[in-house]
Amino acid sequence: MAEAFNDKTLTADKAARYAEVADEIASVLDGEPNLTARMATVASMLASSFDHYFWTGFYVVDPLKARELVVGPYQGTLGCLRIAYGRGVCGAAAQTGQTQLVEDVHAFPGHIACDSRSASEIVVPVFDAAGTLLAVFDVDSDKPAAFDIVDQQGIETILKATFA
Ligand code: SME
Repeated sequence: MAEAFNDKTLTADKAARYAEVADEIASVLDGEPNLTARMATVASMLASSFDHYFWTGFYVVDPLKARELVVGPYQGTLGCLRIAYGRGVCGAAAQTGQTQLVEDVHAFPGHIACDSRSASEIVVPVFDAAGTLLAVFDVDSDKPAAFDIVDQQGIETILKATFA
């Protein structure tokens, strides 16, 4: 009973924090058109808002190389530089255009272990206003099953408001 109550309280707190940080990001980025500045701000503000975020950042669609992502603005330990579409969790998000919510990265076929401490992750595709894929946003946690539907909705809402 107490546990269920705590879970609900945590979920409500987390949803409220996403709504708050969404407003903060919109206010910081008001009038700033540069995409790198927008991505760097989203990565920094989300990473510093949540304890369960371990690695937070963007893999950007490379305009010079077909079907390949290249690392963009991030917060955390050294990330790998390039990920082909279809490879690992980020590549799956780029290939399908769908959010990937992975409770156990070690069970995900082809997962790329940039940092062996990563245990679970969420990767959300980022589209512009015309619906073209710009990047994927990748958050890793060092705890298993750290992300849920509240994270998914919170992140998807912020990315849509910031880039579409
Ligand atoms: N986890 C990702 C690779 C990127 S890093 O974790 C920073 C993946 O498998 O797509």
